[in-house]
Order: sequence, then C-alpha cells, then structure tokens
Amino acid sequence: MIKVLFVCLGNICRSPMAEFIFKDMVKKNGIEKQFYIESSATSYEEIGNDMYYYAKEKLDEMGIPYKKRKATRIEKEDYKKYDYIIGMEERNIQNIIRIVGNDKENKICKLLDFSKKPRDIADPWYTGNFTVTYNDIVEGCTAFLNYLKEKNEIM
Ligand code: 4NP
Repeated sequence: MIKVLFVCLGNICRSPMAEFIFKDMVKKNGIEKQFYIESSATSYEEIGNDMYYYAKEKLDEMGIPYKKRKATRIEKEDYKKYDYIIGMEERNIQNIIRIVGNDKENKICKLLDFSKKPRDIADPWYTGNFTVTYNDIVEGCTAFLNYLKEKNEIM
C-alpha cells in the first residue's frame, strides 16, 4: 500500500483537488487498491470546511468525482503514517517540516518536482485561476504516477 498525503496551506483548494484527481487517476489505471490517498493543510485557517466552491466547480467541469469533506491540518504523526508527503509550493514544504520535523526518510516533496519543469503551484485562493491550478495538478499527478511506475512501486 502506497500512502500519499497531499498538502497545501488551507486544504480547501489545491490539496483536495490533488487528492481527488490522483484518486481518479489511479482508479482509471485499475490500481486504486494499492493506494491510500488523503490531503491536509499546514494552517488552521479553514479546518472543518469543505472544498472551496470554485475548486469543486472545476472538478465538476472536468468530470472528476469528489466527496464532501472537512479540511484537516497535518500532524506530527503523519510523517510515520505516509510514504509520500507532497506539498504544492515551497512554503508548504517549509511549514510541513516545521510541523513534522526533519525529513530523515526523504518523504517530503513538491508535486511539480516530479515533472519536467519543477515549479510551485500558485495558490488559486489568491490568483482566482482554477484552470491553471487544475492543469498544474494533473501534470504533477501524472508525473508522480510515472515516477512510481518507473521505480516499480506499483504491482
Ligand atoms: P489552498 O488555498 O492552500 O490551495 O487550500 C487557500 C485557501 C484558504 C486560505 C489560504 C489558501 N486561507 O488563508 O484561508
């Protein structure tokens, strides 16, 4: 079982979008039983809140299923629980390390570091551009899945 935690600042836009996009991707590849996929925030700002309206609207437009959820914050114990802790931008990485401690087992990474063009995923809460966010997340999730296949982590 590959345990993946997607992390962003608020857990109402980017990381839940990544969670549902990646869940859909592994399902379409017929490998969903090999994964445990979740998402969380680094801040307390939106704890308990559902995914943001425009994030859900984008997923609806692209035919990606999702469920009603409540934003949660990453906990120190999550470092042990997950194999991959994947942030969306540099500041997520710094905040994750502040919460879980040093990345001794190299589990913490940035989603687009798996892509051919490593970069941050801008926060749509501020940019308002959910299309760019969606495309960046699909690019990152596709690259991450290819990375796992190349590493023979998937049966
Ligand atoms: P996210 O976007 O990190 O992609 O979920 C944000 C949502 C809410 C806030 C910040 C970022 N906020 O400060 O409330």
